[in-house]
Amino acid sequence: MKRVPAHEHVLDTGKGEFTLDDLGPLLPGMAEIMPLVGSRVWKCYYAGQARNRPLARFQLNEAVNLLEKGAFLRPKYADSVTAFVEEEMAAVRDAIEAEDWKGFEEAFDAMVAAANAYHDLYDKSFLRWKLPADPPPDLDLTARAVKGGLSRPSDL
Ligand code: HEM
Repeated sequence: MKRVPAHEHVLDTGKGEFTLDDLGPLLPGMAEIMPLVGSRVWKCYYAGQARNRPLARFQLNEAVNLLEKGAFLRPKYADSVTAFVEEEMAAVRDAIEAEDWKGFEEAFDAMVAAANAYHDLYDKSFLRWKLPADPPPDLDLTARAVKGGLSRPSDL
């Protein structure tokens, strides 16, 4: 039987009314989060190829954040995600920080192999992520931080 809380929070969007329980199924799961991880990891790799440390670091951090969000929303994956972040992703991060681009290639390959091993572990052997052959078309991989930054687009 459905649990009835002492008081119910109702969200009124103007288009409909929703309880907190209604919103649960709308939260993203691994099926929505994982392709975003793949996109970040792809960008991280080609940022490394472009020897762009800040961009590679940023993309890897975003991939970590997405995985941690996945682990929060799907706790059964939490231990695997923690191990993956602390081992394989940390090795990639260390190589980026050291600007050890040969080590980066090796750590990146090991990270992808481990990701696919986790897919095997969760009975998803048919999901084998592979690095796209081309760099992402929507990002200038040479862009770096400008000292002081640009405060407004009109500064361009
Ligand atoms: C570099 C890291 C990773 C990448 C690039 C990656 C990539 C992907 C992609 C692209 C998909 C979706 C495939 C599709 O639906 O078309 C997927 C699914 C999945 N991945 Fe990963 N993955 C990574 C790491 C992990 C790790 C560490 C775990 C361990 C918890 C994991 C568990 C899963 C699961 C359970 C699914 C199936 C989700 C579903 O129910 O649809 N992945 N992954």
